[in-house]
Amino acid sequence: MNDQTVSRQTFDEVMVPCFSPAPFVPDRGEGSRVWDTAGRDYIDFACGIAVTSLGHAHPELLKVLHEQGGKLWHIGNGYTNEPVLRLAKKLESLTFADRAFFANSGAEANEAALKLARRVAFDRHGEQKAEIVSFTQSFHGRTFFTVSVGGQPKYSEGFGPIPQGIIHLPYNDIDAAKRAIGPQTCAVIVEPVQGEGGVIPADPAFLRALREACDAHGALLIFDEVQTGVGRTGTFYAYEQTGVTPDILTTAKALGNGFPIGAMLTTEAIAAHFKVGVHGTTYGGNPLGAAIAHKVVELISDPAVLAGVRARGETIRAKLAHLNARFDVFKEVRGQGLLIGAELNARFAGRAKDFNGAAANRGVMMLIAGPDVLRFAPSLIMPAADLDEGFARLEQAFEDVVGAR
Ligand SMILES: Cc1ncc(COP(=O)(O)O)c(C=O)c1O
Repeated sequence: MNDQTVSRQTFDEVMVPCFSPAPFVPDRGEGSRVWDTAGRDYIDFACGIAVTSLGHAHPELLKVLHEQGGKLWHIGNGYTNEPVLRLAKKLESLTFADRAFFANSGAEANEAALKLARRVAFDRHGEQKAEIVSFTQSFHGRTFFTVSVGGQPKYSEGFGPIPQGIIHLPYNDIDAAKRAIGPQTCAVIVEPVQGEGGVIPADPAFLRALREACDAHGALLIFDEVQTGVGRTGTFYAYEQTGVTPDILTTAKALGNGFPIGAMLTTEAIAAHFKVGVHGTTYGGNPLGAAIAHKVVELISDPAVLAGVRARGETIRAKLAHLNARFDVFKEVRGQGLLIGAELNARFAGRAKDFNGAAANRGVMMLIAGPDVLRFAPSLIMPAADLDEGFARLEQAFEDVVGAR
């Protein structure tokens, strides 16, 4: 086989089949548009999965990529580098945190957070304080610790014994949390909006109750902001809207706008438990990723960009309401900022994939979150013309699925 001649079919011949990619092959992107190898264009309401929040081929990010790429990509953690120090300072200036650890993905950021929480409890209280509280339907990544902590058993089944000391409670259930969090609790990990679980926002009273219970029992509160972070919900981090400050925050996805980088942010007192050699990474904190992330953070933390997220979120909700008025497909539209989930009503239960496929046929990339929820996570700076065009195409896709009305 000539290794230059490839197509979607090649995927089935050469790749591990743990993904089932769309029939077309994206080739190039600019802003909120993507072109496939056949030259067809798509309006991008997905951003990977909430990753390319500044769109594709953003000129300022390309400039940093080229500048830092010609200077220094990697140096290893036996040395530090200026881009990573600037990025840490920048993130700390925007958050409660005063210490940062960099990784390459959301799962690794969560792995670091969970290990750190266990270590803090071990050092302060002893090995009996090891229980991690998580929530059903939560998603925290695909490493073995993070699938075990995540609240979707399908991701941890079939891989052998699950690490001990993890419990799952119903999300948004204050009484259940108050009952379960106790002296044995080491940490509580929660998404401010469950993304993969169906775009379900946390009730602020629920988050406050978690904070109180953690404080009462000396447990750490971890906010997984891998999907909600870096402007996605209309503030730089979603916790800012909740009145609750976590002890540890994890962030990734949009942080590098597609360049793989994740971070765990925390306080000096907690960070002190990761002494030299206790945790590590080869690539985490490399100068190339850090330089790109610094520019991403600078651009997205602009109050005008964050206001634009909230405005675009309202526009999309209005457009979804219009689609619903015409087709009667949604039971509920929910989310925050530009992380929006539209749950299908009983007539279309289980058919999110059909809508997704029809959208792709009409030139729209979007997401689902489980079998019943259409998920929208477009660029935070999506031009109005693309947004309008995307919804015009989506209306045709809905006609394809539902029939003309
Ligand atoms: C809330 C949340 N945490 C963690 C992850 C895992 O991130 P990654 O795929 O970068 O490891 C995801 C990915 O979807 C996520 O949505």
